[in-house]
Amino acid sequence: MKATRWARHVALTFACAWVIPGCLPAQAVDERTAQCWSCHGDNGESPNPETPSLGAQKSAYVLIQLYLFREKMRRFELMNNAVKGFSDDDLRTFADMISRLPPPPPTADTVDPARMERGRALVRQYRCNVCHSPDMAGRDAVPRIAGQREDFLVKTMREYKANIRAGYDASMGDVLQPIPDADILDLAYFTARQP
Ligand code: HEC
Ligand code: HEC
Repeated sequence: MKATRWARHVALTFACAWVIPGCLPAQAVDERTAQCWSCHGDNGESPNPETPSLGAQKSAYVLIQLYLFREKMRRFELMNNAVKGFSDDDLRTFADMISRLPPPPPTADTVDPARMERGRALVRQYRCNVCHSPDMAGRDAVPRIAGQREDFLVKTMREYKANIRAGYDASMGDVLQPIPDADILDLAYFTARQP
């Protein structure tokens, strides 16, 4: 029994290694995929605090981030472990899968119109819409931020500002340098409520 399972594992690993260089056995990919969704939500919308929603995220952006996690350039242990041993092709598979999930619905609660207006003005003032697109849906290596969880937006902007989160380039660190924390909170409030 044990030997059979072992033989199948070897066969899978072998087939994988020869047919698609560097890929994980199909079984391993399925298992890891289930883990991804248990944290990030299986419908593109994350139910967990400070865990980003991934729905409709730009494939190029996701690929870069997964690469940064794998190389431990973006440091976050749970994610560094989640993609450990993935090949570039595996990262691409996940990036494409994620980009096809539906976009997360915007935070729905009683909206504070004055705060929304402040957020909208700050987005123009700091030119967030120039890079992230006017609808904040992102493009290429610039992420979608519309409808992202507010707690994650705040956390990650503070980390860029404090140079804790490394990006593939320095743009967000530079953007956030002069932005006070009160504005970060209003930007996150507005962005999380964008459809
Ligand atoms: C144990 C929970 C957990 C698991 C399992 C997990 N993630 Fe994550 N993931 C997180 C958290 C939390 C973050 C936010 C890290 C940070 O604060 O910088 C994150 C960040 C990400 C990001 C960056 C998103 C962004 O907008 O910056 C991507 C992409 C991602 N995860 C994809 C995956 C994939 C693909 C898998 C499975 C192979 C996976 N995650 C497994 C918790 C998890
Ligand atoms: C010069 C172009 C540029 C401008 C201006 C800009 N961004 Fe970004 N932003 C980027 C890029 C590129 C990334 C991805 C960087 C990386 O690899 O971490 C990013 C990442 C982010 C993230 C991380 C999203 C995630 O899912 O992890 C947030 C949040 C964000 N930007 C918010 C903003 C806000 C709010 C503003 C305006 C105050 C803004 N950005 C202005 C280019 C820009």
